[in-house]
Amino acid sequence: MYFPNYRPRRLRRNENIRRMVRETHLRVDDLIYPMFSAFGENIRKEIGSMPGIYQQSIENIISEAKEVYALGIPAVILFGIPEEKDAVGSDAYSDSGIIQNTIRALKKELPELLVITDVCMCEYTDHGHCGMIKDGDVDNDATLELLAKEALSHAQAGADIIAPSDMMDGRIAAIRDVLDENGFEHIPIMSYAVKYASGFYGPFREAAESTPEFGDRRSYQMDPANRLEALREANQDLAEAADFLMVKPALSYLDIIRDLKDNFDLPLVAYNVSGEYSMVKAAAARDWVEGERVMMEILLSIKRAGADLIITYHAKEAARLLRG
Ligand code: PBG
Repeated sequence: MYFPNYRPRRLRRNENIRRMVRETHLRVDDLIYPMFSAFGENIRKEIGSMPGIYQQSIENIISEAKEVYALGIPAVILFGIPEEKDAVGSDAYSDSGIIQNTIRALKKELPELLVITDVCMCEYTDHGHCGMIKDGDVDNDATLELLAKEALSHAQAGADIIAPSDMMDGRIAAIRDVLDENGFEHIPIMSYAVKYASGFYGPFREAAESTPEFGDRRSYQMDPANRLEALREANQDLAEAADFLMVKPALSYLDIIRDLKDNFDLPLVAYNVSGEYSMVKAAAARDWVEGERVMMEILLSIKRAGADLIITYHAKEAARLLRG
């Protein structure tokens, strides 16, 4: 059926008909809000390159989390800025670490809000890399032990979902083993399965104070040129019993999101990362684009590509618009 019999414009005539034939929907349930928990008291410091996003001490994390939950957003993902960093990232797996304390406070005040924790060493090491350094590079197997300890301490503090972002080989199995041995077989693992070495993390590194002191992350994060490798990474994590798969960043990797959606039946998460957020905010501040409109278009595009869930700094703004 072709023109003049077929006229696609018939189904675009007004908002009600457009609503009826709309294929993709963004829901508040799809959103996960990232938060940066900083050591100290009365801290609420806006991140220069991320307007509206703050490093906050625990009491301020709690009040913002209440706002997040009241908007209907089901989950937050936590990042920590510890008092001190060292070569082995001790605060990452200390029972009194910044994240462990934040989890306990959140679960006490807001037991229903799901707490996802980022499991990685880069926020806690003085060199800023995601694991133990040996001969100038991150040592995979030595790092696995620390990641498993970190994940276990998050679970013991009350975390609902563990999200490893370090990109070491074999970490899902290492974390699953330790969780199961300690009675946490019910805690899901959300794997940053496909994480690229990306320039779009720039503003996050300011927020988490986690810029590597030397070199970069290209010996463990993926090469942006690779597509088939993403399927191998996801297969590996599936075999190691990941419960969710994640693609990160989102916008320059919509094709990868679709590849994973077509090849795996696990819930798929996309991380709409810091640089993607900052670009929208910077352009909107100059009135070069309509901020809210491009934000919603971006989030919808990530869902259309195949993501079930989106981690995004826009979560609160988007939830407000979705609730009307
Ligand atoms: C930790 C981690 C990073 C992000 C999430 N977890 C930074 C990195 O790998 O350098 C980036 C998130 C963002 O840019 O919003 N490894």
